[in-house]
Amino acid sequence: MEKLIVANIKMNFTLDEALKYKEDIDKKYSNLVICPPYVYINDMKSSSYAIGSQDGFYKDKGAFTGEVSFLQLKSIGVEYSIIGHSERRHILGETDQIVKMKYDSCIDNQITPILCVGETKEERDTNKIDQVISRQLESIFDDKRSNKFCIIAYEPVWAIGTSVTPTLKEIEEVHISINNIMKKYNVEYKILYGGSVSLNNIEEFSKSDLIDGFLIGSASLNTSNLKQMLDIIM
Ligand code: PGA
Repeated sequence: MEKLIVANIKMNFTLDEALKYKEDIDKKYSNLVICPPYVYINDMKSSSYAIGSQDGFYKDKGAFTGEVSFLQLKSIGVEYSIIGHSERRHILGETDQIVKMKYDSCIDNQITPILCVGETKEERDTNKIDQVISRQLESIFDDKRSNKFCIIAYEPVWAIGTSVTPTLKEIEEVHISINNIMKKYNVEYKILYGGSVSLNNIEEFSKSDLIDGFLIGSASLNTSNLKQMLDIIM
């Protein structure tokens, strides 16, 4: 099965850099989703890849200064959205309840959610990985939203932007746990791995049948790197 790459641009690029990035991806990739900052989504739309957002708000419209709704994102062609990224959970205080409202709003607006889950270093050290992942998944899925497709991204918080990753075996163990939890729900899903994915490790990780693709931050900011990673996982 073709593996997916989701590039999370985070809060990077000026407009000129965003346009140059788009121009550099001059070949059509059916397995690439780029998630630019909101302000560049329209400018970065391209027939070479699909567009995702990095977040969105759970109400469709109204008096929510500074927020952008999934309804609005859908109206400009957004097909995917990252939900519950650890930077939003840990820096911006998003709770499981908020993530759930965002997930539901994505589904209601026909945007495919890329739901991020993952443990902190302390939770790993105290053997709480399964507990944390179960809580994060169980707070999202219920019967009402069954039969929907979503993408789950396993991103250990301690591996994000640190150049440190779990071993392939450790990643696979968590992906197996996710599969076990998801058996209860009638939801189709793929599982990505994210956290310091780079040219140094993507080849090894992509050999695993348990990994359906990658959510990549820093290593995706450079298009030459990104294209090499896409070639490797082909
Ligand atoms: P990283 O970020 O690849 O820079 O570790 C991944 C992410 O935050 O999604």
